[in-house]
Amino acid sequence: MKVDLSDKIAVITGAGGILAGNFAVHMAKCGAKVAVMDIDQAAAEKTAAEIRANGGEAIAIACDVLSKESMEEAEKKVVAAFGGYNILVNGAGGNNIKVSTTEDKFSQKAVDDPDMISFFDLDIPLFRRVVDLNLMGTFIPTQVFVKGLRKAEHPQIINMSSMSSYTALTRVVAYSNAKAAINSLTQWLTVHLGPLGIRVNAIAPGFFVTKQNKAMMTNPDGSLTPRSQKVIDHTPLGRMGEPDDLIGLLLFLCDHTASGYINGTVIPVDGGFMATPGV
Ligand SMILES: NC(=O)c1ccc[n+]([C@@H]2O[C@H](COP(=O)([O-])OP(=O)(O)OC[C@H]3O[C@@H](n4cnc5c(N)ncnc54)[C@H](O)[C@@H]3O)[C@@H](O)[C@H]2O)c1
Repeated sequence: MKVDLSDKIAVITGAGGILAGNFAVHMAKCGAKVAVMDIDQAAAEKTAAEIRANGGEAIAIACDVLSKESMEEAEKKVVAAFGGYNILVNGAGGNNIKVSTTEDKFSQKAVDDPDMISFFDLDIPLFRRVVDLNLMGTFIPTQVFVKGLRKAEHPQIINMSSMSSYTALTRVVAYSNAKAAINSLTQWLTVHLGPLGIRVNAIAPGFFVTKQNKAMMTNPDGSLTPRSQKVIDHTPLGRMGEPDDLIGLLLFLCDHTASGYINGTVIPVDGGFMATPGV
């Protein structure tokens, strides 16, 4: 899919990662200039290098979405390189398997087995870190970048939600709570920033094997875990998502001529996962 994004300058956090990195590559292919941001400098450089190798324009910026100072520094670098920006994609986020219960439901076996994570083992600082990364890691860049978005033409923000945001998924309690908060934040920002003409939407992907969930979705030999098989069985299209499955919606949202009146939504791209409760 190709749309004309030659009038767009996009800031994408987490763009050293699988999903947001692919966003950056596709937006650049459509003509957008891209600021590729990630806490992992090498990963950000890799995405930016791929964009430049394709003939696109990109800068890599190492920064931490949990630090306002770091994001303010990053913002200055984007303005110095491109003069401004009109799209913010809050792509940084993810879960941590260490704060996910080993089993779907409470079991005495998990309580007794030191190798399993039971309800009682859920680590509070790690829980906070997952909520922070997803929620504050979306809020902080938004607070910083609205300063420039408010001066831009057709400004917009795209957040990353999840299937875990509508009803909580088993095991991933911190992540589910954080993603539910992303839906609420998306609505709140839509209303609050409405007077600035900034559109705010969120993409809610189904299940994609990436860096942040690899340990939960695949075995060390690369085969799918029983949990992944359960996801596939529950997905009407019978497969996991591929990063390119999100690109149609992303480009549609970025193209204000196509989606200029779409605002305040959380849109699933899930192969039909949400259509069935599984029974
Ligand atoms: N993979 C899925 O199935 C899935 C489903 C729904 C939603 N999502 C969401 O999509 C987004 C992208 O995730 P992904 O699956 O591509 O994961 P990923 O691990 O491949 O990418 C996440 C990137 O964020 C970066 N990051 C982590 N902490 C950061 C920080 N403090 N500051 C800046 N960058 C930081 C990481 O270095 C990494 O490159 C996340 O919000 C995730 O929750 C993923």
